[in-house]
Amino acid sequence: MVSIQSDSPDRTLAIGKHIGQLLETGSVVALSGTLGAGKTWLAKGIAYGLGVPDYEYVNSPAYDLIHEYRGRLSVFHMDLYRLSSLSLDDELMVQDVFSQSGVCLIEWPERLASYPALQPAHQLHLQIDLVNDDDLGRVMTLEAHGSQLYDSIIHSLINVFT
Ligand SMILES: Nc1ncnc2c1ncn2[C@@H]1O[C@H](COP(=O)(O)OP(=O)(O)O)[C@@H](O)[C@H]1O
Ligand SMILES: [Mg+2]
Repeated sequence: MVSIQSDSPDRTLAIGKHIGQLLETGSVVALSGTLGAGKTWLAKGIAYGLGVPDYEYVNSPAYDLIHEYRGRLSVFHMDLYRLSSLSLDDELMVQDVFSQSGVCLIEWPERLASYPALQPAHQLHLQIDLVNDDDLGRVMTLEAHGSQLYDSIIHSLINVFT
C-alpha cells in the first residue's frame, strides 16, 4: 500500500492535476473518505489535469448524481453520497457512464459495493483520510486494480510528491 501526504487544498489540487494529466480514455478513479476529506478537491484537480477549464467546474456536485465535463477527454464525475440504495434508473445511469468513452471519477464508490453488475473492471482507488490535530493535513492511500496504467501513475506520484 502506498500513501502520500497533502498539507493544503492547493497541494491536493496539484496531486489531482498530476493524476489527470496521466489518465486515459476508459480510466476509472474511485475516491473514498469521509465527508470533508477532500474527494471533491481531488476530483477538481483531476479535471484540471484533464484540461477542464476552471469556469466549467461545479464545486458542489453532491446535489446532482453526475456532472459531465469536456477536457482533452470527457470527464464523468459521479457523487453517490445520497444513494443509500440504487433505483433501477440509478443502476442504468451508472452502467451508461461506464460504457461511455471518457474518464470516470466516483465519490462514494462504496455505494456500488452490493451491485456486482456495477463493478468497474479496473480502477485507481484513492482513500483520503484526515490527519489528527491538523486542519489541513490529509493522507491519501493509493491502490491500482486491473491496469498497469494505474501502477505507473502511482509510481509517478511517488516520484513527484514524496
Ligand atoms: N489538504 C487538503 N486537501 C483537500 N482539502 C482540504 C485540505 N485541507 C483542508 N481541506 C478542506 O477540506 C474540505 C474538503 O472538501 P471536499 O473536497 O468537498 O470533501 P469531500 O468531497 O471529501 O466531502 C475543503 O473545505 C477544503 O478546503
Ligand atoms: Mg465531495
